Amino acid sequence: MDALCLNKEMANALLEEYGSPLYVYSEEILRTRCREMMQLVPQVDFRPNYSAKANTNLALLRIVQSEGLSADAMSPGEMLLELEAGFPPEDILFVSNNVSVEEMKFAVDRGILVSIDSLCQLELFGQNFAGQKVALRVNPGVGAGHHQKVVTAGKSKFGIQLEQLPRARQIAAQYNLQVVGLNQHIGSLFLEGKEYLQAARVLFGCALQFPQLAFVDLGGGMGVPYHGEERLNLELLGEQLGSVIQEFFVQYGRKIRIKAEPGRYIVAECGQLLGRVHSVKENYGETYIGTDIGFNVLMRPVLYDSYHEIVFYSSGSEATVTVVGNICESGDILATGRRLPMPAPGDAVGVLNAGAYGWCMCSNYNSRLRPAEVLLCANGSHKLIRRRDTYEEILRQL
Ligand code: LLP
Repeated sequence: MDALCLNKEMANALLEEYGSPLYVYSEEILRTRCREMMQLVPQVDFRPNYSAKANTNLALLRIVQSEGLSADAMSPGEMLLELEAGFPPEDILFVSNNVSVEEMKFAVDRGILVSIDSLCQLELFGQNFAGQKVALRVNPGVGAGHHQKVVTAGKSKFGIQLEQLPRARQIAAQYNLQVVGLNQHIGSLFLEGKEYLQAARVLFGCALQFPQLAFVDLGGGMGVPYHGEERLNLELLGEQLGSVIQEFFVQYGRKIRIKAEPGRYIVAECGQLLGRVHSVKENYGETYIGTDIGFNVLMRPVLYDSYHEIVFYSSGSEATVTVVGNICESGDILATGRRLPMPAPGDAVGVLNAGAYGWCMCSNYNSRLRPAEVLLCANGSHKLIRRRDTYEEILRQL
């Protein structure tokens, strides 16, 4: 199975037991994706960092850790979650962006390596943590992604521009910082590896300027098909990366660890979001299916116009419908122009590929409760892995 898609009985049973809306994850699919990624470039010392921003549920983090992946973190909160899930500090990379000295110290105190993404922040790091190991985030000038908002290389706020690397070396030398890693991330969601490979070549070129590296981290962005596209050919990408890496090892004069930072690829397909239909109505020639999946529950369609496959667990005849949520904004649209079996109020609805950037981007907008999360365990059982918010939490101000 590529993406989790529950049958009607199971969808209804889970909604009854745990309430609606509900995020459901398959341990089996999660482990499969972890194993595929661990094997991306088997002939070298390759270790992916799971990019936990895509989904920070502790139960899922523990599974990812047990499959041998490392992790990257974007904030102290993510570092805490990863430590709690059992990632040792040396397996965590803090990919910082515009952070305070306190946040840098949070990582340094715990033995977590910090990646720095501007000359200004490198100065700050040097002034406060002279003599430490550090990684540098490079902006290779080549970006890729499913939406302009998630292209992170080229003209964007991220990374140190290639021309500034000599200055970065000077700053590092001035504070006796040991540059042990270079990382980059060109953007989120590619299904063909062309730009990723191009950026990898650029990063390896930069690496030749840094003789003390322990690793080069090529970044994440590996996509999954949301709309029936061809799957990313990981085997081909792995082969192509393999030869670029071998070339680099020859030029560099020794072999070092190679890393990547996949988030979406690891968790997108194992997650399905379930909800309920509450209303069906015609307004100005449009058929609106009103559900409890507002953009406080899944933000991607509203924020990036992202397409997610929708399933109605209904037996009506097919109709063209617009699926909306219960949030007080007209933009609260989950899907438009879908041909689906006409549902009735009370029917279950599912959203596929919801495991990445789903729950972690939820909010309490309209003072709604963030949903619960459930794990379908490999042994066939299921368990609650995060309870729904409570109204006490909504009322709490201090
Ligand atoms: N590394 C860095 C430094 C990143 O900024 C990101 C994602 C990743 C790795 C993981 O990228 P992935 O493999 O998941 O594509 N909320 C958006 C995606 C934002 C991605 C942000 N950075 C979405 O729902 O599509």
